[in-house]
Amino acid sequence: MKIDGSRILVTGGAGFIGSHLVDRLIDERPEILVIVDNFYLGEDKIRNLSPAKLRFPSLKVYHKDATKIRLMKRILKKESIDVVFNLAAICLPASLIKPKWVHDTNVAIASTFCELLREDHFGTLIHFSSSEAYGSAEQIPMPEDHPLKPSTPYGASKIASDHLILSYCTTFGIDASIVRPFNIYGPRQNEGTYAAVIPQTITRILQGEPPVIYGDGLQTRDYTYVTDLAEATIKIYKVKATRGRVLNIASNSEMTIKELISKIAKLMNFRKPVLYEKPRPGDVRRFFGSNSLAKKLINYKPKVDFEEGLKHTIDWYRNLLCSTTSSCRLSGKKISQ
Ligand SMILES: NC(=O)c1ccc[n+]([C@@H]2O[C@H](COP(=O)([O-])OP(=O)(O)OC[C@H]3O[C@@H](n4cnc5c(N)ncnc54)[C@H](O)[C@@H]3O)[C@@H](O)[C@H]2O)c1
Repeated sequence: MKIDGSRILVTGGAGFIGSHLVDRLIDERPEILVIVDNFYLGEDKIRNLSPAKLRFPSLKVYHKDATKIRLMKRILKKESIDVVFNLAAICLPASLIKPKWVHDTNVAIASTFCELLREDHFGTLIHFSSSEAYGSAEQIPMPEDHPLKPSTPYGASKIASDHLILSYCTTFGIDASIVRPFNIYGPRQNEGTYAAVIPQTITRILQGEPPVIYGDGLQTRDYTYVTDLAEATIKIYKVKATRGRVLNIASNSEMTIKELISKIAKLMNFRKPVLYEKPRPGDVRRFFGSNSLAKKLINYKPKVDFEEGLKHTIDWYRNLLCSTTSSCRLSGKKISQ
């Protein structure tokens, strides 16, 4: 399977991971590249696509809702799409506030593309799951056949979508693979409402506020830099042996939130005490993923060392905040996206 000359659609392409995937897809010289995103996190996320637009001026962005099956069918037909990378989803923290909406939206997006693939409106689906589908580790490292006990409605929506896609593979023979990333970090991760711990900590420090730890800080996460995930996703598309399967993308290691926050604080020369808040509902205690299957099937070899990725991420947020606010307290060299 090759991307050179293919017609590609990326849902959620204006988001954090989606925009990095778009950048990496451009290197593979697709014939056309189309994005469907409803920008529910804000219109300003269009900035995530600026580098891609410079390199691929015909990039087309449909500001649309990916749950709408008739609308998606029209776009697939009009653009003669070969492959859909499905990243559109509502994030975990939103599922603690609006659980039904998050569940229904995430599952509806997956079922829309299952159905359109079953009806031959495109050729291949590469769908994004999440380690949240597992819940907390019962064995480490966590393989793909680890028990599935999601602790949040978001995790439940991810596993419901995965089961639906795998059932379409078995019953209707659709051509689909599932990428199951653990914790992903890097530039462009949402720093506003619903921010994850890395962007939240960096932006708080940049604004002169102490980082926050929810609970005792001994919960662990398994971090992968976003460009390593983009690379792995392209290999998953290219390797037919991944079809009908779920592949973890993980670092095969774990780090406590306390360690993570102290690394960020050290790199940013922040020496004041951290704030402790009560634990968040549904917070997973332990993530430590196995990447053995990805190594075997796609020869997965992450390239970016954690500290190097973290430095690059800090620089990116420093650049973003210093260019948009006057309250940026730390100076630093500006970097390109
Ligand atoms: N960030 C992580 O650490 C992580 C880890 C595991 C899995 N994932 C999965 O990877 C995918 C991308 O995550 P991300 O971190 O880039 O999230 P993100 O929130 O930055 O991007 C998701 C994008 O989907 C869009 N979207 C949401 N609902 C939509 C709809 N109905 N129609 C069209 N577009 C819609 C949003 O506007 C957003 O741009 C998601 O499926 C997520 O579940 C992320």
